[in-house]
Amino acid sequence: MKFTYVTLFHGLIDGYFQDSILKRAMAKGLFSVEYLNPRDYSTSKHKKVDDTAVGGGAGMVMTPQPLFDALNELRSRGDVHIIFTTPVGKPFVQNDAKRLATKAHVAFVSGRYEGIDERVIETFADEVFSIGDYVLTGGELPSLVMSDAIVRNIEGVLGNADSLETESFETQLLEAPSFGKPPVYDGKAAPSEYLKGNHSKIAALKFALSECKTKFFRPEQLLQHRKRTFYEK
Ligand code: ADE
Repeated sequence: MKFTYVTLFHGLIDGYFQDSILKRAMAKGLFSVEYLNPRDYSTSKHKKVDDTAVGGGAGMVMTPQPLFDALNELRSRGDVHIIFTTPVGKPFVQNDAKRLATKAHVAFVSGRYEGIDERVIETFADEVFSIGDYVLTGGELPSLVMSDAIVRNIEGVLGNADSLETESFETQLLEAPSFGKPPVYDGKAAPSEYLKGNHSKIAALKFALSECKTKFFRPEQLLQHRKRTFYEK
């Protein structure tokens, strides 16, 4: 799989791939990364990429020309799924991460300033995502968040395939709490059932704890889980 980041600040993204799981996955050839800087495509004398908004309003907007040229070139190289990141996109969820992990080439277009000229989005977007109801200073973090969530669904990236199946959102329930060794730390013990080694009892307890966690933190998610379990089977 290949990711292309269309960004004015590739240094904000690059560091994330220099360590840990993603670094290993890249070294194994499971995915690769490239960058396109819209500034390199600007035809203006000073390589300008932003301007004031038509019709007025606060702040600068990323102008169409550099992005049109960069994205036309990207599309001319072959099939690519182009994603724009903006707080007014649809919410990015785990199912999107799984679905996008099956694509061969995904590009993320990161906005800066007050955003990207809407004509660019209308012309090139295959999908437009938000990573949450808050406004960030640019699309680089959202692009990385989505890439990370996508990459860990590629076969061979995580050491243990089980870790994907029991995860939060795979079943609509949040994952049960985990406890590392030692079993007692600072006078606080892991649940005794976890220590006794009866796997069906541990599984039952984990399920109950999952339900409790989901009810507390994400009640709407628990309702959805129950609806699916009781009415759709
Ligand atoms: N750009 C700025 N804020 C964002 C958000 N919450 N999600 C996606 N892209 C963004």
